[in-house]
Amino acid sequence: MGGIKTSIARKVAMALSGLFLVLFLAQHFTINFTSVVSPDTFNEISQFMGTNFLVQAVLQPILIFGVIFHFVMGFVLEIKNNSARSVSYAKYNGGANSPWVSRNMLLTGIVVLAFLGLHFYDFWVHEMQVKYIQGDMSGLNEAGEFRYYEETVAKFAGQPVRVAIYVFSFVLLMLHLLHGFASSFQTMGVNNKYSKGIKVFTKAFAIVIPMGFVFIAIFHYLNNL
Ligand code: HEM
Repeated sequence: MGGIKTSIARKVAMALSGLFLVLFLAQHFTINFTSVVSPDTFNEISQFMGTNFLVQAVLQPILIFGVIFHFVMGFVLEIKNNSARSVSYAKYNGGANSPWVSRNMLLTGIVVLAFLGLHFYDFWVHEMQVKYIQGDMSGLNEAGEFRYYEETVAKFAGQPVRVAIYVFSFVLLMLHLLHGFASSFQTMGVNNKYSKGIKVFTKAFAIVIPMGFVFIAIFHYLNNL
């Protein structure tokens, strides 16, 4: 019984940290989307997010902890599940019992994590360097204009390989969320008249947000041909 209890606790921890990351994803998408419609708005929000004390000193560390926690727990869960089912799973194995996305959460998760490595290198490391090592919090370039929009666009303009890697990662993020987001509510025991609506919402979110990111990356690439 103890084993079952801890395995449920692990799944709940996975669901809660996943839901937290989904919230981050929604705000990250909303802010990034402004880069398509209004460079000025994107610059202003970026400057705010990049210099606000609450965002930088509280939310950012919580977010990074959330990413690491979700990733480490995901591994632990997978290893425990595999050792628990190593004998009996042979006869239940295969696509007949569970869809591909639910059986490959670790694989899609690892690809998203690898993407995050590249993504941090692309944006975050540079930001930390300019702001906290060079000590330049102005957000301005040498011409005295906000630098965020042009720096973001530069990652995609004339960079077909990076765009392709990003797009591939977003597709796998979609697959990861298609199972993960919906099942997090199940894990939390949500089972009422809203369950069906929640399922529709989570599946729609899992498709719309990653495809929105695809749109942003391809937009900046095509807009600068
Ligand atoms: C076209 C798509 C995307 C663009 C243009 C983009 C852009 C950015 C930029 C400009 C930053 C730097 C923020 C800073 O100043 O520190 C950033 C940070 C980050 N991005 Fe993205 N992003 C995209 C997609 C994603 C996706 C799909 C994920 C998650 C799976 C993600 C996760 C993160 C994380 C975790 C950070 C670090 C946040 C922090 O500053 O603490 N991004 N992104």
